[in-house]
Amino acid sequence: MKRIVLMTVAAAIFAAVPVAMAAGTVSLPKGYEKWEKSKQQIITDKKSLFYGIHYTYVNSKAMKTYKKGGTYPDGSMFVVVQHGIRQEGGKPVPGKKSMIVLMKKDKRSKATGGWLFAGYTPQGKPSGIDPVKNCYECHLKDAPDRDLVISRYADFR
Ligand code: HEC
Repeated sequence: MKRIVLMTVAAAIFAAVPVAMAAGTVSLPKGYEKWEKSKQQIITDKKSLFYGIHYTYVNSKAMKTYKKGGTYPDGSMFVVVQHGIRQEGGKPVPGKKSMIVLMKKDKRSKATGGWLFAGYTPQGKPSGIDPVKNCYECHLKDAPDRDLVISRYADFR
């Protein structure tokens, strides 16, 4: 539950950062929708800015370490797609996409712990977020002993 609360803060940051800030250079990896995907992760607290439903996608390069722990090999990638919530027959289902984020292991990204962090609009355009202040610091605080990866493989079964 603590993890979910922290995501709330992330949303506040995404919302506050002007789109014109230093444009991200990496584009969303093609075909990530076909990667292994977490179960629906839902935050129903309406006061939470991260109110919504998200899915985490993991590429095959990252999977072994995701299951076992340790240091991720270069090229490991995680994509999170965040949606709003729609009610359908009294059940919450994913609504409109609200944001997409990417982590890609790249040892050249020294300032952010060997991961490249990037945020995107629902259409997949870079939203130009400063990755050190707005991504890395929170991931470092939450998962210093899991190579900065906060979510768990347990969410996939
Ligand atoms: C305030 C804390 C916080 C900030 C800031 C934050 N995140 Fe996260 N992030 C989280 C949490 C918590 C999760 C795990 C969500 C779950 O359990 O499903 C997560 C998960 C992720 C994941 C899936 C891999 C993983 O670590 O589980 C990616 C990719 C990601 N975030 C990218 C970003 C990017 C890019 C930014 C900056 C634009 C960012 N995050 C900023 C808290 C944060």
